[in-house]
Amino acid sequence: MSSAGVVPLLGRVAAAVSEAIVRVRPEVTDADPVVRRSDRADFQSNAALPLAKRFGMAPAQLGSEIAADVERSDNAIADVQVSGPGFLNITLTDSAIWESVAARLADDRLGVPATEEGRRVVIDYSAPNVAKEMHVGHLRTTIIGDSLARVIGFLGADVVRANHLGDWGTQFGMLIQYIDEHPKSPWHTDELDPNTSSVSALDSLYKAARAQFDADEEFADRARTRVVALQAGDPATVARWREIVAESEKAFGAIYNRLGVLLTPDDYVGESFYNDQLADTVTELVDKGVAIDSDGAVVVLSEQANGPDGKPTVLMARKRDGGYGYDSTDLATIRYRISTLHADRLLYVTDSRQALHFQLIFEVARRVGWLTETIQVDHVAYGTILGPDGRPFKTRAGGTVRLMDLLDEAVARVRAVVAEKNPDLPSAELDTIAEQAGIGAVKYADLSTSRVKDYTFDPVRMTSLNGNTGVYLQYAHARVRSILRKVGSTTPPQIDTGVALEPAERELSLMLDGYADLLAEVADSLEPHRLAGYLYELARSYTAFYDACPVVAAQEPIRTNRIALCQLTARTLELGLEQLGIAAPQRM
Ligand code: ARG
Repeated sequence: MSSAGVVPLLGRVAAAVSEAIVRVRPEVTDADPVVRRSDRADFQSNAALPLAKRFGMAPAQLGSEIAADVERSDNAIADVQVSGPGFLNITLTDSAIWESVAARLADDRLGVPATEEGRRVVIDYSAPNVAKEMHVGHLRTTIIGDSLARVIGFLGADVVRANHLGDWGTQFGMLIQYIDEHPKSPWHTDELDPNTSSVSALDSLYKAARAQFDADEEFADRARTRVVALQAGDPATVARWREIVAESEKAFGAIYNRLGVLLTPDDYVGESFYNDQLADTVTELVDKGVAIDSDGAVVVLSEQANGPDGKPTVLMARKRDGGYGYDSTDLATIRYRISTLHADRLLYVTDSRQALHFQLIFEVARRVGWLTETIQVDHVAYGTILGPDGRPFKTRAGGTVRLMDLLDEAVARVRAVVAEKNPDLPSAELDTIAEQAGIGAVKYADLSTSRVKDYTFDPVRMTSLNGNTGVYLQYAHARVRSILRKVGSTTPPQIDTGVALEPAERELSLMLDGYADLLAEVADSLEPHRLAGYLYELARSYTAFYDACPVVAAQEPIRTNRIALCQLTARTLELGLEQLGIAAPQRM
């Protein structure tokens, strides 16, 4: 089927109301139909109230005029009632609702239009630092960014996943020097498991190197000389650097694999990639009068943000010693993504503490003319993961929590929960399910929280079978699949649109019909928690439907229609979970 999609019923009703308004009041060309789902009918429109005010009319009077016109104009609309101060309560025909179910079911995109087609969206996410282990701080950027990449990609955009690895900078001079001076360090022994231990080793070497750098002046000098050698391309130094980067990338890859994110080695475009664009970037900023000399450094003074001292905040384009830092790299990066990648939209998924940094980068990009009106740019900021004590999550000893350990813990816990519920599962199957559900639990707990909020990492709560958890949703999906297996239904059944809808069928169908609008909202607000919330509501509507409406035991043609609802629910849950980056096992 084409990517034009199925018009959601809400959109259809909104269009009918807008058209009715123009017929009733031809002078109104810009009326917002303000249509939403409602408890009293299928949809409600609040359009009459502001309009009546504008024309000094009684809202109920204008409401009845619009209502009568809407009822006449679209045969999908069965009834329009005016209530209270002029609300329109709109009820659709049962057949229009069945038709929408049938149309979504007949499309492999479930009727979702490819609204982002033709747009290139660069999503900067994950971005761990080489020679360090990925820790709990990298969890949110990795899974929020990945979910956005999936949703926006599904809507048809050409998504460029940009993993801006911290693979460059003075710290590498220090580390390489330290490794060379310590030939007995774990780096040089080869008993290491290349996937994890060599990076733990690197992480400790890094800390040791840092300690010596701070304590030993002469070592610090040798480390600085080593930075110069690295930047000048000294072959031995560059070779060592490459080794370190490669080891780290392997370890990141192991985590990405386990998390089931889309990132691949092709998406690794680290800071080092921009190294040879830094000088040109700074020159351009100076030539265009955006950056100025300040005591030998090249800086941009913000026109929008002041520091606590009331003076403009400074962005460091080039340091006094001629070196480049995090600010410089992000300037070259935004320039590259706009001028070379021709991005229409740029997203940066990092914690909210970097808000000012990105505000300044965007300001400079605007002032120098890279960033124009037609390009959308967002810092996708998120809150902190907290420990049980309500403070940023740390190990008992006060160290940073390794991401791998945290995933192991969640998987072990889910394994116990699933084994208890289903004691007969063969152990290999239990392992697979525990892995999928454990990782899913961690991801869902994160993605279901409003992005900007902090949340507490609570393995017991996140792996619970009840409540708004990943495990609950995976079970809900598996349960629908098991019913479909029972009735032997695989292909989309032929819906009879003449069947009268039960209230629970109606509710479920309208919920399913809202999926396309929901995805558009997620892409717009960059808030995956709306998708999580939707899937949870969908699972609950399905439960209410299943409790009220027998499927297997129903008479035809009701039975077939209900099977169709089960199919569309299963496929929507599966697709939604996939867009959160969460596995949807067929059995649990
Ligand atoms: N490597 C950085 C960190 O771990 C995050 C980089 C985010 N992306 C960017 N373009 N600055 O904090």
